Amino acid sequence: MKKILLASLIAISFIQAKELNPSMQGFMNDLSVEAKKQNPNIQGFDYARGEVIFTTKQIGKKGNPISCVSCHTNDLSQNGLNEHTNKVIEPLSPAANPNRFTDVKEVKKWLRRNFKDVYNREGTALEQGDVITYIINKK
Ligand code: HEC
Repeated sequence: MKKILLASLIAISFIQAKELNPSMQGFMNDLSVEAKKQNPNIQGFDYARGEVIFTTKQIGKKGNPISCVSCHTNDLSQNGLNEHTNKVIEPLSPAANPNRFTDVKEVKKWLRRNFKDVYNREGTALEQGDVITYIINKK
C-alpha cells in the first residue's frame, strides 16, 4: 500500500515537472518523498497552495509586510525589482526566462534565502514543492 502511494505521488510530481530538466525533476522528487515522510496524507504538490505561499504578505525579516510578489511581482513573465536593493530581477517564469529552474543549487539557495526574507524560516519540503509548482505553471 505504502509503495503504491509513493509511486503515485512520484507520478504526480513528474507530471507537474514535465518541463523541468532531469536534475530538477530529481529535486522535485526528493521534495515529494520528504513531504510524504513528514505527512503521509499528502497527495502531491498543489498550485493553489503555492499561490497562497507566493502572494500572502508576512511580517518579514526586516520587520515590514512582504511577500514573494514584493520583489518578483505578480506577473512572473515580467522583470521584478528587489525591494531591499532596488536591483532588477529577471522574470521567474521559465517560459519567459529559460535559465530559471535549471540549476538545483541555485534554486535551493534562493528558496532558502527568500523564504527567510518573507517567512523568517526555511520552507518545508511541501511548501517548496507547492511554490515551485505554482511558479512553473502560472500563465
Ligand atoms: C527581497 C526580494 C525577494 C523576495 C521577497 C523574494 N525573492 Fe526570490 N529572488 C530574489 C533575488 C534577488 C533572486 C536572485 C536573482 C535572480 O535570480 O534573478 C531570487 C531568486 C529566486 C528564485 C531562483 C529561481 C532560479 O531558478 O533562478 C526562486 C525560485 C525564487 N526567488 C522564489 C521566491 C519565492 C518562493 C519567494 C517568496 C517566499 C521569493 N522568491 C521572495 C529576490 C526576492
